[in-house]
Amino acid sequence: MQFTTNLTYVLIVFTAVLLSLVRAAPLIARDVYVPPITYPHPGTIWKIGSYHNVTWDTTNPPEHITNSVGRIVLRKGVLATDIVLKSGFNILDGRVVVQVPKVTPDKDYSLVLFGDSGNFSPQFTITH
Ligand SMILES: *[C@@H]1O[C@H](CO)[C@@H](O)[C@H](O)[C@H]1NC(C)=O
Repeated sequence: MQFTTNLTYVLIVFTAVLLSLVRAAPLIARDVYVPPITYPHPGTIWKIGSYHNVTWDTTNPPEHITNSVGRIVLRKGVLATDIVLKSGFNILDGRVVVQVPKVTPDKDYSLVLFGDSGNFSPQFTITH
């Protein structure tokens, strides 16, 4: 009985230590950088085929960015589409020109800017 209790205690402590190490590791190893998108914003209307600068705020980036290669993906409603508007640019550029893709016109599109992680824009409209 005594042995079992001690063993259980040791296992619990060991597991807790292991979990805290696993959780802490990514924070130590990475500087996650997710700059907020400033354009498009609510009220923005994009015509299919036209070109626009997507812009984002690049103030206060961390010293060491884990992944500085950016990618912009179109999202509709709450679902990401497989439409990549741009990739391979520097996340510190603060803007990149994209062409509005031929999609069904609607008012619930948004963009996801990926660097280390994804950051959504507000929803905006794509029209003919
Ligand atoms: C994007 O921004 C750059 C710099 O302000 C400007 O020269 C260019 O004309 C813009 N392009 C579009 C499509 O708005």
